[in-house]
Amino acid sequence: MLGTELLKLSRTLHGARDLGAMMQCVRAACQKITRYDRVYVMVAAPDKRSIEVIGYILPDTDVVRTRVAAIALDKDPFLQQFFTLSEPKIIPDMRLDPLADQKQVEIFGSRTLITIPMLNGDDKLGPLSIATFSDQGVILPTDVEMDFFKQVGSLVAVVIARFRAEKAREELEAKLLATQKLEALGRLAGEVAHDFNNLLLIIRGNTELAADELHGHAAMPFIEMIRDATIRASGLSRQLLAFSKGQVLTPRVLNLNPLVENCLKLVRDLVPKSITIQKILTPHNVMISADSGQLEQVIMNLVINARDAVAEDGRIVIETQLVFTDEEFIANETNVSPGRYALLTVTDNGHGMDMETQRKIFEPFFSTKPADKGTGLGLAVVQGIISQHHGYIQVYSELNMGTTFKVYLPICEQRAPEVGSKLPARPDDLHGTETILVVDDQEHVKTTVSTVLTRAGYHVHTAGDVRTALAILEKANIDVLLTDIVMPGANGLSLADSATALYPKLQILLMTGYAPSHFREVTWAHITKPFTPTELLLQIKALLNKNIA
Ligand SMILES: Nc1ncnc2c1ncn2[C@@H]1O[C@H](COP(=O)(O)OP(=O)(O)OP(=O)(O)O)[C@@H](O)[C@H]1O
Ligand SMILES: [Mg+2]
Repeated sequence: MLGTELLKLSRTLHGARDLGAMMQCVRAACQKITRYDRVYVMVAAPDKRSIEVIGYILPDTDVVRTRVAAIALDKDPFLQQFFTLSEPKIIPDMRLDPLADQKQVEIFGSRTLITIPMLNGDDKLGPLSIATFSDQGVILPTDVEMDFFKQVGSLVAVVIARFRAEKAREELEAKLLATQKLEALGRLAGEVAHDFNNLLLIIRGNTELAADELHGHAAMPFIEMIRDATIRASGLSRQLLAFSKGQVLTPRVLNLNPLVENCLKLVRDLVPKSITIQKILTPHNVMISADSGQLEQVIMNLVINARDAVAEDGRIVIETQLVFTDEEFIANETNVSPGRYALLTVTDNGHGMDMETQRKIFEPFFSTKPADKGTGLGLAVVQGIISQHHGYIQVYSELNMGTTFKVYLPICEQRAPEVGSKLPARPDDLHGTETILVVDDQEHVKTTVSTVLTRAGYHVHTAGDVRTALAILEKANIDVLLTDIVMPGANGLSLADSATALYPKLQILLMTGYAPSHFREVTWAHITKPFTPTELLLQIKALLNKNIA
């Protein structure tokens, strides 16, 4: 009889699709074989610190109550004992149990409680409980009933393990899908930013040219507004590019400490004076191979997030350290190898984040800020840049306590040859008389850039493709080749390659808006679109001065 019923139960359980269906099968079997009909299951969360699900079935109805419960087990010793059992436990009368909360016992009228541990191998999943209440009174189980419950416990454990595996598979699939979506989004963002940067360059360049002509004119305030808007649009486009990882990296060996110091000077203006910014920099040189502009963006984004999180008299601490990470420490990090790392920590005593928020912060467009305050790209960009630098980022946060972001970047063991600032001090005169070849497939970009250069006194040749450019290089005596990277057909990098080989004295400046992945690391000087006329002229001056030196 028992054997047949268990076989039947095992079969029906096999078809159970969810906890509710499972509970109904178990209750029906218990009613048939035993004197009990109140059945509960409690499943421990994988970390065993809380209850993941509770399922129980109401007497005399088919209503199954299931819920996800976040009861912390270490705060409830009575419950906790059932999650550590290896053998069944019987509490004949709850009213006499020293651990049970007697107020609850009275409210619910609890009497007998039989608990069967559900084991999946060595893993204690949680208890299957059978109970009686005041309507039935105390009922002690017979040997046959206990035997039955133990068998049911094993069957239910199998079903729960199956539910878990299915859930894990679904989560993995969802994660994979999210990654694929992100990749597609990243590609799209990169493509859009590329076109957008060319347009911005034209708008920005011509706005500056017009502003030069219109000094004191009544239309100047309008021009100023266009200029402000393009500056903001350029910032947005830079975020998009960094997020799509399509930006050209110019890694150099540099010391993290002065970079942090410089960056904080810039950031200080963006943070109200009432907020304290403290820096604790290690006295050691922290040499890393990095793109300084990109790292500045990381620090900026983290500090601005901290600013948004703290109160008026809040505190932000920025720290640098040299650390050694071992195998165990980085066990959870993919693509990270053990070794010496520069650790950059940004801590604030702001409103912090709950777990749910922390899980999502690196997703692009996830923001808890009002629409005009945050786009939700900041941390997605930070993560993109850090992974491009072979580093990783971790977040620690407690609601209402504060937040710490830790950025690990691999230490570069070789010494820096020379760590100069990006641009030389601004020369008084940005004019020149040298000859420059401008190569870009976009007509308006070409025109804008050559207008800027011509007005500064330079002789300018233009080409719309690589073949024309090479022909001009052969005939004219060119000092600087200023070329776009992404063009139809042969690209700017191959042009730069051939030109360097043919004319070793030629200075090369790449204009980049978006670069597909294989263009990421280049040795030539580059200027990121959209740039202003002044930025362009400064770069050209820097190159030409280098030639003289
Ligand atoms: N230091 C912090 N303290 C509390 N919450 C934070 C902190 N940093 C980030 N967050 C949370 O993470 C979310 C995402 O941050 P992220 O920088 O990606 O976007 P954002 O700041 O909302 O917008 P954006 O940076 O694009 O202007 C924020 O909206 C905020 O909820
Ligand atoms: Mg932000």
